[in-house]
Amino acid sequence: MTDIDTLRQSLEDQSPRAILKEAFRRYDNIALSFSGAEDVALIEMAHKLTDNLQVFTLDTGRLHPETYEFIETVRTHYGIHIEILFPDAAEVQDLVNRKGLFSFYEDGHSECCGIRKVSPLRRKLATVDAWITGQRKDQSPGTRHDVPVVQEDPTFSGPDRTLVKFNPLANWSSKEVWDYIRMSEAPYNTLHERGFISIGCQPCTRPVLPGQHEREGRWWWEEATKKECGLHAGNLIARS
Ligand code: ADX
Ligand code: SF4
Repeated sequence: MTDIDTLRQSLEDQSPRAILKEAFRRYDNIALSFSGAEDVALIEMAHKLTDNLQVFTLDTGRLHPETYEFIETVRTHYGIHIEILFPDAAEVQDLVNRKGLFSFYEDGHSECCGIRKVSPLRRKLATVDAWITGQRKDQSPGTRHDVPVVQEDPTFSGPDRTLVKFNPLANWSSKEVWDYIRMSEAPYNTLHERGFISIGCQPCTRPVLPGQHEREGRWWWEEATKKECGLHAGNLIARS
């Protein structure tokens, strides 16, 4: 049993706040990945637990205007620095000039996500010892139902080093996250007022109807089993 397995056992039944607290106690060089959606709950908790909060967001170039506005609102509301990571310009330019601006509708989202999200994330994660995500089990019954509260990152660890990934909200439901946002009067993305639950890039996200699962609003033209963009591709590897 690894050190991280032991840590997971001790944190499995703990609150998101307690998990974050332990993450900051163990790691100085740890970064929180913020998507501009309800994972603002993590920033609300984390900014009270450390003076050394590193937050980053992956600007794919295809986010909704509301999400850009929200990221700016969060930056000023909490008085924190949010590092904005961009994709490699030459790679984006090559993709859209070869295949157009909406190639993901034709041949799947993995190429575009690979360039716009996964490569910049990989570059960032090479500079930290651990990262924090807002993944939850209830976000995707198909791919996230066994997301642990902490794990050795199955995607971005290398042969020479272990990258640790904390998912403090793993065991919370969407309702618990939203109760927390309301109770703490945290700001939220105004797209949530218009039927959006899970929010990603604008061309690949749509609102859901009553009774639909939130994940059905993401990459809706693809099969449920493939609905991971690569940031958390380890969820798929772990299941195969
Ligand atoms: S995704 O892989 O399908 O896009 P999702 O939108 O469910 O992920 O978000 C889960 C977590 O992944 C977020 O809470 C956040 O930690 C991270 N994440 C997703 N998109 C981004 C982004 N654009 N920038 C930074 N982190 C992100
Ligand atoms: Fe490209 Fe859509 Fe992936 Fe965004 S979610 S990076 S637009 S394929």
